[in-house]
Amino acid sequence: MNNEKLSLARLSVPAIPGLKLLHRGKVRDTYAIPDHPDKLLVIATDGLSIFDFVLNALVEDKGAVLTMMNHFWLTKLEKMGIKTHLIAAGAEVDQYLPEVLRGNTELQKQAMVVKKLMMIPVEFVVRGYLTGSGLKSYQETGTVCGHVLSRGLCDGDELLHPIDTPTTKAEEGHDEPLDAAEIRQMYPEETALLLEIYAWARKFMRQYGIIIADTKIELGRDEEGNLYVADEVLTPDSSRFWSYDQWAQSRLLEKPKAPPPYDKQLVRNGGIHEGINKLDPSRLEDIAKAHSWWVPPELLEATTATYRYIFWRLTRARLESYQALELGINVAPRRRNLSIIFGSRSDIAKVKETLKALEDGEFLSGIAENVQYHVVSCHRNPFDLMRFVAGGCGGTDAIIAVGSKAFALPGVLDAFLYAHGRTIPVIGVALGKIGSADRAAAELSISELPGTPVVMDEVNKKVYAGEQGLRDALHRVAFAELPPLRPRKVAEAEFNINPHEYL
Ligand SMILES: Nc1ncnc2c1ncn2[C@@H]1O[C@H](COP(=O)(O)OP(=O)(O)OP(=O)(O)O)[C@@H](O)[C@H]1O
Ligand SMILES: [Mg+2]
Repeated sequence: MNNEKLSLARLSVPAIPGLKLLHRGKVRDTYAIPDHPDKLLVIATDGLSIFDFVLNALVEDKGAVLTMMNHFWLTKLEKMGIKTHLIAAGAEVDQYLPEVLRGNTELQKQAMVVKKLMMIPVEFVVRGYLTGSGLKSYQETGTVCGHVLSRGLCDGDELLHPIDTPTTKAEEGHDEPLDAAEIRQMYPEETALLLEIYAWARKFMRQYGIIIADTKIELGRDEEGNLYVADEVLTPDSSRFWSYDQWAQSRLLEKPKAPPPYDKQLVRNGGIHEGINKLDPSRLEDIAKAHSWWVPPELLEATTATYRYIFWRLTRARLESYQALELGINVAPRRRNLSIIFGSRSDIAKVKETLKALEDGEFLSGIAENVQYHVVSCHRNPFDLMRFVAGGCGGTDAIIAVGSKAFALPGVLDAFLYAHGRTIPVIGVALGKIGSADRAAAELSISELPGTPVVMDEVNKKVYAGEQGLRDALHRVAFAELPPLRPRKVAEAEFNINPHEYL
């Protein structure tokens, strides 16, 4: 890729000294490895592209998430007997590197040694659901890459069966759709492999409540003509992941619309606002325009959270645990500072066993760097709660709000945090005897908040409740990811209205 297409931020990723840089892509840097002419060193950077423009911004942890997730899937495919280009990742890459580059944890997080292949010049795309460019083509012609689809399909609808929708692998500009039947005839083994991987991934992800709407794979062959899965597979940069629940809800809308994918969608939305989707990535002026966009840092932070979150949903591991345990990289677990807020003093007694165990260090020792306890009622102490939020909540990374009865604390706290532009997640824990009105009210006041801004156990679809719920919530803070910020539906407040206009 020519350097003028890469943004300053992307170009600021330093080249590894002493290695020959063969290619700088939108996201990946590819190097030759001394004495291993049959292999390549691929570094997934934190680079970010939308609508085929490389943006002038980096997303922390993105390269590491892509590398770890790619490793997760490639090793699974290998176990199924599918050949992949993976040779080494994590600490194991060291053995292919000159001595001076060994033991570099930052490099190990983003690096993969792969088998150098002759790449097939097609992007093998498969869709199980209709959205994005597939939907656009369907709306214009009733077909996608030559597949005639049933009538009346809406954005996000599931297709009767997955379809292969190959595209060109454009060196510049957008990838163009190809005729599926033609490509299938030219590449039957490749297309069969594409459909096999998709069918398997779809089933695998479904058990964790994630839909893979579509995905792209790149394939290559070795000297003997064996077929390999190359590049990246089943990552948020090559696939559209949806929450099954959000998708199911979206089908009930009058005009169904695909749910937001777990990827760089927030940045894409910002980019659309800037008109970047209307620009032409093969024109230098347009590239300069895209590069001039200063991507708001809160969008980049939310994107980091989204990549980390989908990694956890699909692998059940936090990034750092995967790096340390699966790939032998010397990284410390990421601890969070935690605040536990009780709505009233009487709630403390209800979870005393859990708290005692937490303090004794018997239970989940080292759960958090630092745990602070507060008693604040949003009804009796609204000003104190507001000041707590305005002051940054004592430097906490997550808040667990514990209480019973119609339990406004977590929702109000979350609203105050939003008003102050803070992205600290609030996890609600409902107390009260099982079956009591107290407990039911507390649970409903969390689960029935529009848009569920207060964190629940979204995988098992329940509110954290009771003593066990507090333990699960603590476990969540320590060992899991919390949901990324979702765009809020902001409705303007209206004063002095004429109600008759609304009738
Ligand atoms: N095993 C492999 N052997 C050879 N090339 C590979 C292999 N795996 C991936 N590639 C190629 O390496 C490149 C990875 O770069 P990346 O994905 O960052 O860039 P891209 O944006 O897709 O590429 P470009 O910027 O050139 O369009 C792709 O061109 C991909 O096809
Ligand atoms: Mg690529």
